[in-house]
Amino acid sequence: MSRSARDLFHEHYGGAPEFIVRAPGRVNIIGEHTDYNQGFVLPMAISAATYLAVGPRSDERIDAVAADLGRQGAITLTDFDWDLSEPWLDYITGVAKELSAMNCPLSGANVVITSTLPIAAGLSSSASLEMAALKMFEAMSGFSLEDDEAAHLGQRVENEFIGVNSGIMDQYVIRTAREGHALFLDCRGLEIEHVPVTFQEAMFVVTHTGVERGLADSGYNERVADCGDASEHLARALGRERPSSLREFTVAELDEVRETMRDQLYRRARHVLTENVRTIEACKAMKKGNAETLGALMNASHASLRDDYEVTGPALDAMTEIARTLPGCYGSRMTGAGFGGCAVSLTAKDGAQEFAESLMKAYKERTGNEGVTLLSDPAGGVSAVPC
Ligand code: GLA
Repeated sequence: MSRSARDLFHEHYGGAPEFIVRAPGRVNIIGEHTDYNQGFVLPMAISAATYLAVGPRSDERIDAVAADLGRQGAITLTDFDWDLSEPWLDYITGVAKELSAMNCPLSGANVVITSTLPIAAGLSSSASLEMAALKMFEAMSGFSLEDDEAAHLGQRVENEFIGVNSGIMDQYVIRTAREGHALFLDCRGLEIEHVPVTFQEAMFVVTHTGVERGLADSGYNERVADCGDASEHLARALGRERPSSLREFTVAELDEVRETMRDQLYRRARHVLTENVRTIEACKAMKKGNAETLGALMNASHASLRDDYEVTGPALDAMTEIARTLPGCYGSRMTGAGFGGCAVSLTAKDGAQEFAESLMKAYKERTGNEGVTLLSDPAGGVSAVPC
């Protein structure tokens, strides 16, 4: 794909780009809707990625072509407004705006964007574009942010410029992932551990339901607000100081005050608190190469997201239900924000291709939707390679 970004650059601008940025997408193995509650997550980067072919300009303008969308647009690096007709540009504008506020030097460029990541599929195509844009500005102007700073910058773009109150997981893993590893991240203090993915006989298979969703118009922000309400309620009921997140409470404490809570709020909190426990257990299972235990935790995570958090929906439920009935499957769950998008299954390496094919066929028969399969080993984080 990087060749084609390079070729397209030549076609649009004449000459060769100076460098190619590659920013992966990510799949979250477990730890869903926990990051904005300062909890634990366990994502890995995947081989599907966003590519930017970049050639510097001498003025303060970014001229960009979104090749897959057949769109073109421009940004002036002194004016950081939304572009209502080219919303994909907002991710680059948002990054430039944040860098400008940090007094980082910005220079203009001609850019061609291509991607092998399905959009609105829960594989972080937007965080991937943000981290790619950041890497581009760093490479052009010769500065480099710390990983924490870079991930926070991407999160601010989402929260303040795009209007999605998302957490830090996606940007963090896209920035820091190591090939062959998942990333265990404590979203409270941002302590990280690169965990080798070394199952002898199992691998992850990602399958897209074909049902798209957009975070800004989904129930995502509602869930974030519910969690804030739940932690306020818990603090009041337990006679505590004002909490900063659900992370400060245990499942036992939640159950102690259950009678005082609205059932829906109780279930939202129960998902987050039990998911934190599952994620720690999943990380231990990964380290031991114990696919049975990890698979069981993935199934339990899906059930919790379906029944307590209510973010799965018929397509994801069908996809994961079918996956669990197929030979070789250890476990299956939705991944990302939910409301459509992708599932991730842990299945026997031997026969993974057959697993994916049978799953797509049975899923189509049951739902009428055309699914898509992505097989990927854990990939490395964002990089810029000179041409
Ligand atoms: C989206 C957000 C992440 C995270 C997940 C759910 O991908 O961008 O920050 O909250 O949903 O786990």
